[in-house]
Amino acid sequence: MKFIQNGQFALYADKVLSDKDYYKEYKSGGIDSAQFCASMLADKSLSDAAGFNERNIERIAVTPPDDKLPSETILGHLVSNKAVPVLENMYGGFDEYREYIRGNYDHGEFVTYIFPEDERLLYAATEIRKPERVFAAGSYYGYFAVWAMKTVAANGGMCVLSDINGEVCRLAEKNFNRLGFGGNVKICCEDAEKLLLNRREPIDMLILDATGKGDDPRPEYRGKRIYGALLKDAAHLLTKGSMIIIHNMEPRNPDMKTLVDELKAINAIGASYQTYNGLGVYVIV
Ligand SMILES: C[S@@+](CC[C@H](N)C(=O)[O-])C[C@H]1O[C@@H](n2cnc3c(N)ncnc32)[C@H](O)[C@@H]1O
Repeated sequence: MKFIQNGQFALYADKVLSDKDYYKEYKSGGIDSAQFCASMLADKSLSDAAGFNERNIERIAVTPPDDKLPSETILGHLVSNKAVPVLENMYGGFDEYREYIRGNYDHGEFVTYIFPEDERLLYAATEIRKPERVFAAGSYYGYFAVWAMKTVAANGGMCVLSDINGEVCRLAEKNFNRLGFGGNVKICCEDAEKLLLNRREPIDMLILDATGKGDDPRPEYRGKRIYGALLKDAAHLLTKGSMIIIHNMEPRNPDMKTLVDELKAINAIGASYQTYNGLGVYVIV
């Protein structure tokens, strides 16, 4: 997954759009997502100079105008259902932490589709749940899991990062050491399913962000179907209060059916929010 442009796609998109009036109007609530989308599709500079394709544009159009909306909606739902406690300031320290991470993260030659709302949601969910045992399946070069690390490290916890790609694991290791999280992370360049099946220690927070190989001999592990399979593999490690963070959550996507069924089977309640990627948070009750 190497692109001409490295780093955060979201920041690149924001830079490209920053001087467009229709973007300013969308951000200030003057136009809705459909109007924002139509304006972008009509703007030839986006496909010509910026290199956006139609899929990028349709997904950018559902990016929330305020990056607090997904966390407030999803975590608010969990609070209302008493699945998590109320936390007055779930974003405490976030702005400083964001500056620190963005200023120090080495993206190598890779691009990430972790958006500002994803950063904020994982930070806030971690502040609320205060997990000591985190497992990230499909951790790539760590740029999603890092938003959990301030709280995990403060609580003396341990986060397992699992990815089958050695190059991204090495880049994650370099970053986590540099950021001072080396003692709170175990980087495993292995199949998440094997690690989960062999693990005995319970998990407080499971982060699902793997994309299975399209030619995996086991159809249930292909693409995003892997989420359902991984949740089954982790079922013996999850208990009341365990939180499941799902990147690319699209509950109506047929590839997510096993995941949705399995969440019900383990008595997990939660909510999702449509964003560039889709976000979901569930807690076992
Ligand atoms: C597409 S990336 C996630 C990118 C992330 N959403 C972002 O934008 O930064 C998915 C990762 O899952 C990893 N992966 C695929 N199958 C896996 C498995 N069985 N166990 C662990 N990681 C896996 C891939 O190597 C890849 O790095």
